[in-house]
Amino acid sequence: MLRVRYRKVVPYPVAVVLSQYYDYEHIEHVHPESLGRYVLLEQGERRNVYEQLWPPGLLQSLGMPTARSVVQHTYEPPRTMRFRFLCGRHRGTEVVTVLEEHPEGCLVDETYGVPGLPDWSLLRRLALPPIRRRVNAIWAEDIGVDVCHGGWPGVPERSAEAEAPCAGSSRSGEGAEVWIDVAAANDLVEERPLLARLVVPGAGPDAEAVPGDVVLVRASGRLFAVEARCPHSGGPLELGRCRDGREIVCPWHGARFALATGEPISGPALRALSRFRVRERAGRIEVAVNEPSAT
Ligand code: FES
Ligand SMILES: [Fe+2]
Repeated sequence: MLRVRYRKVVPYPVAVVLSQYYDYEHIEHVHPESLGRYVLLEQGERRNVYEQLWPPGLLQSLGMPTARSVVQHTYEPPRTMRFRFLCGRHRGTEVVTVLEEHPEGCLVDETYGVPGLPDWSLLRRLALPPIRRRVNAIWAEDIGVDVCHGGWPGVPERSAEAEAPCAGSSRSGEGAEVWIDVAAANDLVEERPLLARLVVPGAGPDAEAVPGDVVLVRASGRLFAVEARCPHSGGPLELGRCRDGREIVCPWHGARFALATGEPISGPALRALSRFRVRERAGRIEVAVNEPSAT
């Protein structure tokens, strides 16, 4: 098998780039002429299978049916993905994608495995320019879109489908609570999840009461604070979307959670999100945690 390696620095954090690989919906909006459309066939914790309907080409203009591929996408945490073309166009082709932190964003390191060709250096040199041109063009489509979610190009905006009041975000705490300043109120835009670091002043690095990152949501005039990682497989909920003013949807496999209770509504997540009491005071957002038990 011929193996061709392609590397590119993309000016977004690793989590954003990783989420784009799961965002099947953005393909038809952002890449209709280069990638066509993806239809999800199977969804698992670390394995998804989709059908790719390629954009029409010369053969389709002559009456041939749409070209298709069935592609298996597997995720190997923390940053490796494998794409295998199981049937249809490019059958047998494999792509291994490794994402690395980079001072300017994310280093995308991809190896394309082309079946039926020997792995000769001359062939690698010949194959690299067209692969580089094509992948660069696809990234340019992502970077060039004017629809974006959370400020990140290439992730299309979804509008809320309906306005509905939230049930609230209160949770009775156990033991003494402290309110932690986590963000400026102005930074929290309606229905735009915001990642905040929850650091308890004076708590040691191992203190049990330091819960890590939280995601803040302002929706329908209410505030919510939930744990930042999806309980299914660790998807970054700050890159998810708020739905109907009542739910947060994980960007990786689409698990939906009620903001008011944290309970999963649909999708693969089985447990509820942890929630935190949250309030707005003097232009700041504060989250309540139990006082540190160790210092
Ligand atoms: S990580 Fe799978 S649904 Fe969130
Ligand atoms: Fe894209």
